[in-house]
Amino acid sequence: MSDEGLSNLLHEERTFAPSEEFVAQANGTAELFEQAEADREGFWAQKAREYLDWETDFDQVLDWSERPFAKWFLGGRLNACVNAVDRHVEAGHGDRVAIHWVGEPEDDTRDITYAELHEQVQRAANALTDLGVREGDAVMIYLPMVPEAAVAMLACARIGAPHSVVFGGFSSDALRSRIADAGSKVVITADGGYRRGKPSGLKSVVDGALEGGENPVENVLVVRRTEQDVEWTEGRDTWWHEALEAADATHEAQAFDAEHPLFILYTSGTTGKPKGIFHATGGYLLQTAYTSHVVHDIHPESDVYWCTADIGWVTGHSYIVYGPMTLGATQVMYEGTPDTPHQGRFWEIVQDKKVTILYTAPTAIRTFMKWGKEIPEKFDLSSLKLLGSVGEPINPEAWMWYREVIGGGRCPIVDTWWQTETGAIMISPIPGVTETRPGSAQHPIPGINAVVVDDMGQPVEKGSGGYLVVTDPWPSMLRGIWGDPERYQETYWSRFEDMYFAGDGAKLDEDGNIWVLGRVDDVMNVSGHRMSTAEIESALVSHPKVAEAAVVGAADETTGQAICAFVILREEAVEQADEEGEGQDLVAELRQHVAKEIGAIAKPRQIMIVAELPKTRSGKIMRRLLKDVAENREVGDVTTLADSSVMDLITQGMKEG
Ligand code: WTA
Repeated sequence: MSDEGLSNLLHEERTFAPSEEFVAQANGTAELFEQAEADREGFWAQKAREYLDWETDFDQVLDWSERPFAKWFLGGRLNACVNAVDRHVEAGHGDRVAIHWVGEPEDDTRDITYAELHEQVQRAANALTDLGVREGDAVMIYLPMVPEAAVAMLACARIGAPHSVVFGGFSSDALRSRIADAGSKVVITADGGYRRGKPSGLKSVVDGALEGGENPVENVLVVRRTEQDVEWTEGRDTWWHEALEAADATHEAQAFDAEHPLFILYTSGTTGKPKGIFHATGGYLLQTAYTSHVVHDIHPESDVYWCTADIGWVTGHSYIVYGPMTLGATQVMYEGTPDTPHQGRFWEIVQDKKVTILYTAPTAIRTFMKWGKEIPEKFDLSSLKLLGSVGEPINPEAWMWYREVIGGGRCPIVDTWWQTETGAIMISPIPGVTETRPGSAQHPIPGINAVVVDDMGQPVEKGSGGYLVVTDPWPSMLRGIWGDPERYQETYWSRFEDMYFAGDGAKLDEDGNIWVLGRVDDVMNVSGHRMSTAEIESALVSHPKVAEAAVVGAADETTGQAICAFVILREEAVEQADEEGEGQDLVAELRQHVAKEIGAIAKPRQIMIVAELPKTRSGKIMRRLLKDVAENREVGDVTTLADSSVMDLITQGMKEG
């Protein structure tokens, strides 16, 4: 964000107190802050017993002796799936709808009760066991937004097999490397999924990932969704529905250690190789349930909750599957995009399902703003009581639009800051307590200690900026990077002593509110999706015509950031391009190449072919200058460049191109 943008933000002084009506029914209260402040570990211990059923109670809350490797709820044993499903049925809520599933084709809907979910997870747990999956074996899940995705995750949790969900927009190559890293013997996928009215293949992507070369996969379970033709490898591939039908309908769940890994989720870091973030059962389940209760204010008996994220991202893990289901909530799960078949689809769903809590991303809100308020105004949104935002900074203008147009001026907004690594919400208003401020995530929630520090790790004064850090371990913190404990230590715990460095810049306003400004490392945030510049650069240079590449995230009004690449061609390719005048084709070819290497979501918005890249004397690419170009700004200070004429060449090329 530009300095000007920043100072504008910090002049934001509007506040909105929750209505008396909201306060009267709110789960979160001011006492939570006092309790957590007085005895943080005691607070979490009490919450762990309040929100979760333990087969064996824990005898130690936190072990921080091997920092930065934390252990929570030692000695405790529980089953995540039993907490998210079985116990609600046992408590007599089997008839409650767990998932109002809304497919992309309009008449395609299904309501699944907790009792039905219970049967499904038992069968799926047995089916996985029949395939030889045992405690500790990683299972890869590559599915569209169908209820089977939640069933598959919960079934894995039930048998202690960590799942690793890969977002459906990733390519065969990306899938292959994740399968290898996690060592998965089983992949759960579907024939295909719907995307803007058209079926697209998923099984074919899995087939591609398993073609040629060694891989650990022995079985592929295939959910039938689009009924498109698929290739079949006998002995390896099984239809999901056949496997579930053949499996026993009852499954006795066993409890696992609180620290047992629940899942691995790959996310982009500052190097080319994605990190397998993994989470432990007890602490993760606790913090997702607690935040679903006090931040999203879910009342399981009366609310209809809807989180619009995809299950392939952490938001889908924590706030579609584990948090709301551990509370026994009723939720909407939607398969499609916001504009299929029309731009009012989200609002139609809110109206039809009487959604009370909506959790979505700023990039979606900005898109709705662009489409115009006339669209949501056609629908009855009066069921809504709370709105949430996640994934990137929300600008005050979008916040106000969300409040007024969607929330009718009456719904509190919770701007929730967290990450794949933090597992659950960390910084957010507590909606019945906090007076909200447009654009700011405001303060750590009760039980979490986070501050903004300067370069030296000292807390900054009000009105100043710095880095966001978490100063104490928290229950749902990542337990590490799968197979790479050193990278964990190095990435998160080495920048500041004894503090978790989140990679985000932040500012404190005069009232002490935290404003998260975005990444300070080489990670981009495109429509709320994390992308690494290094990963896309390495995809580009793997193309035979590319000699060098530099990628930057340029500010974009709708998507937050957009991927812009600067590419130097190999000499043969330059000559060829000149002769055949095929510069445009080449750009298309390179974009396609990135889609193949990583996935369509990583395709650069813009690729600029340049003769040189701006480098310092020590050879480091100065991305800051490229960002200036990509954002159409006057190029900044070039005095540290080895060759200061390079930038003139690039900007000139841009004008001509
Ligand atoms: C950004 C998504 C500002 C941030 C849950 C973080 C946010 C990254 C917010 C994590 C917010 C998330 N305000 N920025 N409310 N929420 N971010 O791992 O840069 O996909 O580091 O987790 O998203 O992205 P991730």
